[in-house]
Amino acid sequence: MAIALILAAGRGERLGADRPKALVELGGRPLVQWSVDVLASMPAIEQIVVALPAGVQVPTGTIGVLGGAVRSESVRCALAAAEAGDPVVVQDAARPLTSVELVQATLAAVEHEGVDAAIAATPVTDTVKRADGEGVVTQTLDRAGLWTVQTPQVFRRAALERALDVPDDVLAQATDDAWLIERAGGRVVVVPAPPDNLKVTTALHLALAELLIARRKA
Ligand code: CTP
Ligand code: MG
Repeated sequence: MAIALILAAGRGERLGADRPKALVELGGRPLVQWSVDVLASMPAIEQIVVALPAGVQVPTGTIGVLGGAVRSESVRCALAAAEAGDPVVVQDAARPLTSVELVQATLAAVEHEGVDAAIAATPVTDTVKRADGEGVVTQTLDRAGLWTVQTPQVFRRAALERALDVPDDVLAQATDDAWLIERAGGRVVVVPAPPDNLKVTTALHLALAELLIARRKA
């Protein structure tokens, strides 16, 4: 059976609210509760561990752990607190619009032979350029084959445990856990995500998320 780790231990500095980002209200629920509710509704997931900041109430029906200084350290803390279970779903509390369908598709993709991780992702639609320190463009990337990646990210447990078993400075460089699998030579596949799987980073995203939730209800 699968287990799920929800990462909610960040400070939310860019959102700049009066409380940790995971507790900021969205559609009448704390941000973290949206991911808890999606994952708790899935019979395939037997346990949910949530990495939280200090002093925050643990969501009902989950196991709470104190997060780490950087995101992947929070993953390590949460995984260490989880019982046996494979694969492992990693979900950012900052992505409240995740869905059962998306988690299911990602879980299905990791079951393919030889796959170590399956990650929700969206094809890049903007043209992407590289610029130097002076703002002078040095390269235009070929958009074909470029994806921006999100959560859920689903891992074979042994591969994730191996990937997280690295020095703290390597862990601190990881903006997503799949990179840790890639650098260890593992096989990672993308799973197309709906365009509304946005990450709440700033107040603009919170306002957008409110609108998208209202539209879902309509
Ligand atoms: N996260 C975590 N532990 C950390 C840092 C981040 O569990 N030490 C989680 C956040 O709670 C969030 C997700 O990782 O759900 C993605 O991080 P991000 O969007 O950067 O959130 P914050 O770090 O909270 O925001 P900011 O960087 O603006 O402070
Ligand atoms: Mg952050």
